[in-house]
Amino acid sequence: MSGASATLGQWLAENGDLDRLDRELVASRALKLTRAQVIARPDSPLSPSQRQSLDQLAARRRREPWAYITGEKEFFGLRLAVGPEVLVPRPETERLVELVVERAPQGGQVLDLGTGSGCIAVAVKTHRPDLCVTATDVSLAALEVARRNAQCHAVDIEFRQSDWFSALAGRFDWIACNPPYVADADPALNDLRAEPSIALVGGPQGLAAINAVIKGSGAHLASGGTLALEHGHDQGEAVRRQLADCGFAAVETHEDLAGHPRVSLGRVLAGGQG
Ligand SMILES: C[S@@+](CC[C@H](N)C(=O)[O-])C[C@H]1O[C@@H](n2cnc3c(N)ncnc32)[C@H](O)[C@@H]1O
Repeated sequence: MSGASATLGQWLAENGDLDRLDRELVASRALKLTRAQVIARPDSPLSPSQRQSLDQLAARRRREPWAYITGEKEFFGLRLAVGPEVLVPRPETERLVELVVERAPQGGQVLDLGTGSGCIAVAVKTHRPDLCVTATDVSLAALEVARRNAQCHAVDIEFRQSDWFSALAGRFDWIACNPPYVADADPALNDLRAEPSIALVGGPQGLAAINAVIKGSGAHLASGGTLALEHGHDQGEAVRRQLADCGFAAVETHEDLAGHPRVSLGRVLAGGQG
């Protein structure tokens, strides 16, 4: 951190622990300039209050993702409100949405389990208004954010607080879930400290929530219904095995845009389990 830079160019040079792009975005937001103006005006003098704004915003950026600073994130072409109550929606999760949008039966019942910001439910309902979408989370604070996003995009979704399946009755044609799947001791958690741990941490191997959702899904899927789960890039084999062990058929894994195995699907046979 600087605190004494005389010009914008000096401030940018003195905060090299942040990426160049981050520094430019911080300057753009703190000084109400476009990024092009920030780049073109290295000699602009800084007043003490401008330096203070720059330093305060840079300090926030060191702790928080951009989405929490701006209060929004783009997901599946939609602008969604986000805050520290919810996981910032990731591009990987768009693959899960694509599969539901492409494959869910006309007029079907879809459940988004662990909805967080509501990104999956809102994106699915926006692109498939014929579907009846229910979205749950154990976190009331997350459900508030998800409700706001549904309202903002004018989509009708039933929200319910539920510890996985505890408050759910009835059966669904598709269950889509992006559960917490990072292993307890994964060093990657250090970089994710600003996001709620309940949205991230999934037990010693990161498979605790995944396994709970697979075990509980059979009793909540209609005949021929599908469970679609996002998981870590190295968890595909374990997830497929668990799906098969729990009686799911047509088990398959799809890659995300980066080419990593990311979403696994399984179908319950006629009659469903449980
Ligand atoms: C990885 S985040 C996914 C959020 C959002 N669906 C997305 O894709 O960005 C996992 C979500 O599951 C929720 N969750 C964690 N444990 C839960 C439980 N026992 N029952 C229901 N939801 C739970 C968290 O609050 C969090 O919102």
